Amino acid sequence: ANAAGLNLDDIQADILIGMKKMKELFYFFGIDDVASFKTKLATDILPLITTTTQMLENSTQPITLLNIAFSQRGLDALNVSDSLGDSDFSNGQFNDATNLNDPGTTNWVPEFTGTGIHGVLLFASDSVDNINDAVSSLESAMGNSIKKVYSLSGAARPAPNAGHEHFGFLDGISNPAVNGFTSSPLPGQSNVSAGEILVGEDGDSGRPDWAKGGSFLVFRQLKQLVPEFNKFLTDNPIVMPNLTLQQGSDLLGARMVGRWKSGAPVELSPLFDDPVLGGDRFRNNDFTFAETTDQSGCPFGAHIRKTRPRIDLGTDDTGRHIMRAGIPYGPEVSTDEATANTTSTERGLAFISYQSSIGNGFKFLQQTWANSEFFAHGQGPDPIIGALKGAERDITGLDPTDTTKTTKLTTDFVVSRGGEYFFSPPLSAISGKLSV
Ligand code: HEM
Repeated sequence: ANAAGLNLDDIQADILIGMKKMKELFYFFGIDDVASFKTKLATDILPLITTTTQMLENSTQPITLLNIAFSQRGLDALNVSDSLGDSDFSNGQFNDATNLNDPGTTNWVPEFTGTGIHGVLLFASDSVDNINDAVSSLESAMGNSIKKVYSLSGAARPAPNAGHEHFGFLDGISNPAVNGFTSSPLPGQSNVSAGEILVGEDGDSGRPDWAKGGSFLVFRQLKQLVPEFNKFLTDNPIVMPNLTLQQGSDLLGARMVGRWKSGAPVELSPLFDDPVLGGDRFRNNDFTFAETTDQSGCPFGAHIRKTRPRIDLGTDDTGRHIMRAGIPYGPEVSTDEATANTTSTERGLAFISYQSSIGNGFKFLQQTWANSEFFAHGQGPDPIIGALKGAERDITGLDPTDTTKTTKLTTDFVVSRGGEYFFSPPLSAISGKLSV
């Protein structure tokens, strides 16, 4: 299948569509026996890799979907000397921890601070049993050629919260439409050239030929302090004459994200959630932030406005778009945790983004937009993912009754546990360059 020059049989499924399943396992591996790995990559892994074409139809999807991506160390191990032309990828995420304002090694999963992760296998299916079966069968096929370094199990939250991240907000609403792939962009969706997400495609250049149709995969294990977040909302309700305390707390949460839990944008529904709007994909992304100019709709610093400022920059054509394909991990908040307002079991977001340049994509959004106190209106950092080194985060605009009022965040409700930068190659490179 070809869509205006994109070879959808060659592009891995997770990049443009996302392997949306109830369960996903991220299996980080090291390569122990290079020669044997190369052979098995072509004979045992390649036939299992799910393509974009397969992903397009339910009937062509295997029971368990599989994708693979490599770190720079993995490419080095495979003796691939071509530069992919992305210095962030080459340096690895751990060397970026300071740039991203992560608190160094302190909170990082130890395996992400080491040098042993050469790649990641992404298994997605409707059940954990299916995934376990696929893992055991692949492990036995791979023998001693690889070893597991670390793994993380993701799962959609149970009904009625499937599709919502752990703070409770509907996720996966706004991803870019890709020229040559997305046939009918939805109202308000950004339109990007294929080369903004895929390397070597229209708008991207300077890569080795074999990499065309691949994409850089950013993986981040982002721990979410859910009871603490909820306590903060309870303690700081927005006080307005027509709102109950609970409604005031819900409003604060919605203004931090820029959307209500249903997905309804606060720009279009400023004071109360509107689940019908939230669930309507023809309307729930159809805004530019020009609807209100005084933060009575969306605060300048809301998470979705920081990470995609739309009209704030005059154009949405910023070259700073990412394709998100993450999934929650960890259990629901227990009664004990809710009572104590304290997290005792880790949960969060297994964040994945695809882009043709880490520096223009994930890293730019995190470093230059989310972490900045000044972008775009001097309102402080992103209240959800912004990280300031060691300082409290002071944010204005969250209270619609006085948008000059400063809200002080002394806890980071999202804590980076680290991750890695990977390259998700086209299938032709898996059978060619990487396995010979
Ligand atoms: C959108 C939550 C991390 C970038 C959203 C939405 C939610 C959300 C609820 C709205 C739903 C949607 O538009 O799909 C979270 C949580 C995070 C997190 C809880 C951490 C645990 C990140 C990170 C980045 C990011 C690390 C990038 C650096 C985006 C972008 C959008 C978005 C680009 C879409 C904006 C738009 O097009 O309107 N996020 N997010 N998010 N997030 Fe995050």
